[in-house]
Amino acid sequence: MASMAAAERIVLGVSGGIAAYKSAELVRRLRERGHEVQVVMTEAATRFVTPLTFQALSGRPVRCSLWDDAAEAAMGHIELARWAQRVVVAPASADLIARMAQGRADDLLTTLLLATAAPVLLAPAMNRQMWAHPAVQANLEVLRSRGIEFVGPGRGGQACGEFGEGRMSEPAEILARLAAPPAAEGRLRGRRVLITAGPTFEDIDPVRFIGNRSSGRMGFAVAEAACAEGAEVTLVAGPVSLPTPAGVRRIDVRSACQMRDAVMQTLDGQDVFIAAAAVADYRPREVLDSKRKKSGQTWNLELVLNPDILAEVAARTPRPFVVGFAAETEEVERHARDKLARKRLDMIAANRVGQPGCGFEAGENALSVYWHGGGAEIPLADKSEVAARLVALIAERMGQAG
Ligand code: PMT
Repeated sequence: MASMAAAERIVLGVSGGIAAYKSAELVRRLRERGHEVQVVMTEAATRFVTPLTFQALSGRPVRCSLWDDAAEAAMGHIELARWAQRVVVAPASADLIARMAQGRADDLLTTLLLATAAPVLLAPAMNRQMWAHPAVQANLEVLRSRGIEFVGPGRGGQACGEFGEGRMSEPAEILARLAAPPAAEGRLRGRRVLITAGPTFEDIDPVRFIGNRSSGRMGFAVAEAACAEGAEVTLVAGPVSLPTPAGVRRIDVRSACQMRDAVMQTLDGQDVFIAAAAVADYRPREVLDSKRKKSGQTWNLELVLNPDILAEVAARTPRPFVVGFAAETEEVERHARDKLARKRLDMIAANRVGQPGCGFEAGENALSVYWHGGGAEIPLADKSEVAARLVALIAERMGQAG
């Protein structure tokens, strides 16, 4: 997928699915960035959103049929395929994916997808059982082997009332993906990147634990962004309910000690280590085998210090390019620079936490990034956009470090 230059000509394919309404927002945001957008809808898509909506937002008549004489006379489907500098299909339904995998040309969108030489990005959307079906997964493999790229799907509540993987990526995530360079040309091509994400849970007894509010979203977004830049990514994830970004190798852990072991076992040969996890600093001295009964007015729980994974990685020789995160509530720069020096990091990304709308749990974040002798601000935006910028900074700094 070529990274998005200014003012590109984009064909946005819309296939049949309830997520089609999100594509209206995608058109608006693409137009805001100066792109020309030609919407092509399947017949099924027109049952969910009217062509008029897309026409109003894109400023161009929507194309729906191979057999529309007037439209074909203005720009035939082959010319349209050549006009496109990129094709995005959002939502890409199970049916559309199957027809693409078979190389069918039974409507305008599938014909155009065969006829175009432009890079193609699909944003799948379907029920979680359909997404998990071996037939769908096999079709995705076929398309991947042909160089088609994917963004999402995400995990969450679905229109059918179920919860799981299959939800179309949000417009901001699709835009962030379009802004990243192609994996084959990415700034981290050939690099191996190890990332920690999410909270750790420190068990007290079989039913209780000490945890924190990290959702894993920031770290998962960093993993997806590093992957989009061509890196080979391993993600060590604490207990979170997020889908694994496509192409990322994931190791699930629960506690800080398990996270430390997983990191140390995977560290050899890594070029970059990014610690986005909110690791518990302390754990209970002992984990009880059975549930502790209520007794007395107070409960004194003795805690012991957990291993500092980031500091341990930074102390190794040889070591990867080491990036830490800092969650600060005040004096962000002073505390972050102190951590940068104390833990001997190459870079630190500080977020101000404790205010609504960014940091822990939220969909958005803002980062102040520091390194020795410099720094940069990443303003408040969707975590996928913030992650793409952070990864670009890392690639740039690594280049300068030789
Ligand atoms: O997961 P989200 O809901 O998306 O929220 C994202 C986030 C706020 C959790 C993330 O952006 C973030 O700031 N992560 C680091 C949180 C944190 O634990 O900061 P800290 O200042 O306590 O730790 C500093 C650094 O040391 C971090 O890189 C941390 O991963 C690392 N660390 C800390 C303790 C420890 N025992 N081992 C570590 O590796």
